[in-house]
Amino acid sequence: MTIDHTLDDGVIQLRCLRPSDVGDRYLQWLRDPVVNQYLEVRHDPPKDVCELARFVEATNAREDSFLFGIFINDGTHIGNIRLGCISRHNRRADLGLLIGDREHWGKGYATRAIRIVAKFAFTELQLVRLTAGMHAPNQGSFRAFLKAGFVHDGTAKDYWQSRNTLASMGIGWEFSRLCPRAFCGFFEAY
Ligand SMILES: CC(C)(COP(=O)(O)OP(=O)(O)OC[C@H]1O[C@@H](n2cnc3c(N)ncnc32)[C@H](O)[C@@H]1OP(=O)(O)O)[C@@H](O)C(=O)NCCC(=O)NCCS
Repeated sequence: MTIDHTLDDGVIQLRCLRPSDVGDRYLQWLRDPVVNQYLEVRHDPPKDVCELARFVEATNAREDSFLFGIFINDGTHIGNIRLGCISRHNRRADLGLLIGDREHWGKGYATRAIRIVAKFAFTELQLVRLTAGMHAPNQGSFRAFLKAGFVHDGTAKDYWQSRNTLASMGIGWEFSRLCPRAFCGFFEAY
């Protein structure tokens, strides 16, 4: 699915990606072993820009996903955030993101992008629950979701295969309306 308007917090802008946004920089993010070490795409990264553009097109055509590009004020595309597995009946969805441009890590952009998409999901889509999962050592992701207002929901053992071992780890998170204080705090912080 796509929307025409931009989501904005004054520092970053999110808009639905188009196949024309796909270029070598975006392709290299997905092929960079540091960026993709905790992403499923590492198992089968796209081979070229055409394959990646087809992925964007196919994702936009899905009824259960929004794929947003993350842009900073000078218009540079620095990463993506995806609201996926949207269940209209259960009013829930899953969030995943990457800041592909490593020079922009640690500047708060992931936290901002998560807050913006969470607000979109809760207000415009009327969802009531969001989840995100990350490998346990992925402290950057873990902390970004915490700062954006998510709460720890549990740990799933052997959820992902990591470096071909069985000792992979996963952490499940939820952002729940059952935590009214956290929910209000989220909007005040926004
Ligand atoms: C994980 C990722 C999204 C974090 O993005 P980011 O924009 O650097 O995150 P933020 O700047 O919003 O930082 C959020 C918090 O995490 C901390 N953090 C960021 N990277 C970290 C790291 N590698 N190790 C430990 N803490 C880290 C920040 O310091 C900040 O916490 P603080 O304010 O208490 O200091 C980014 O590194 C990334 O895209 N990595 C590759 C793809 C990926 O792993 N995606 C997540 C899959 S679930």
